[in-house]
Amino acid sequence: MNSRSFRHLLQDLARVALAAGLILVGAQQHGLAAEPQASGSAPVKMQGLRGGTPLDQDNAPTPIRQERDHAPSDRDFVQQPPLIPHTISSYQITKNYNKCMDCHSFQKSKDSGATKVSVTHFRNRDGQELDNISPRRYFCTQCHVPQTDAKPLVGNTFQRARGLQ
Ligand code: HEC
Ligand code: HEC
Repeated sequence: MNSRSFRHLLQDLARVALAAGLILVGAQQHGLAAEPQASGSAPVKMQGLRGGTPLDQDNAPTPIRQERDHAPSDRDFVQQPPLIPHTISSYQITKNYNKCMDCHSFQKSKDSGATKVSVTHFRNRDGQELDNISPRRYFCTQCHVPQTDAKPLVGNTFQRARGLQ
């Protein structure tokens, strides 16, 4: 082997080594490396909602706590769907019947004392005003949820809209 082709061989080897190094770095960045480098910090322990339950078994359902009825809650911004201040257990919304409208429709609200549904709920997505609740507002619980006095899981600096402070 003459010195010229030997130099070429060395250059080729250097290129291969560089490429392999780059791939390794990429794999580590994407978490593909088999053994993550211990960088001083303790390993993160992951705990899923299933806990240690094997995949072929189910956890026992956690009891759902329904909030007791109370006065309507303050809103945090005017466009907010108000939280539901009463229990909705067994209130069904089906194709033929909407239990919420049994109290919240304009007609029924006189007797039930419930807040009338908003007039915005009669507008379809093309801005057309309808003579009954708009299909896009039919499934009330898509937007309105019962309130529970749950403490925030993480701290936040959210402030009520200035117009409502
Ligand atoms: C048996 C009658 C009844 C039924 C059924 C009912 N509600 Fe109510 N709802 C009320 C009453 C009464 C209030 C409280 C009004 C008040 O105290 O000012 C209320 C309050 C609310 C409020 C709060 C309004 C506000 O201004 O803060 C929301 C939202 C609401 N209900 C949503 C629903 C939804 C969604 C359903 C169906 C899953 C439903 N309600 C079913 C009677 C009812
Ligand atoms: C796509 C979301 C959405 C759906 C679905 C929806 N709402 Fe609302 N609702 C809102 C928002 C947002 C507001 C507050 C702004 C407004 O008035 O439009 C509101 C306001 C209200 C209010 C308060 C009205 C007032 O004058 O203060 C009541 C009561 C209400 N909704 C009941 C219902 C009921 C009952 C249903 C089902 C028939 C329903 N909503 C479906 C989003 C929704």
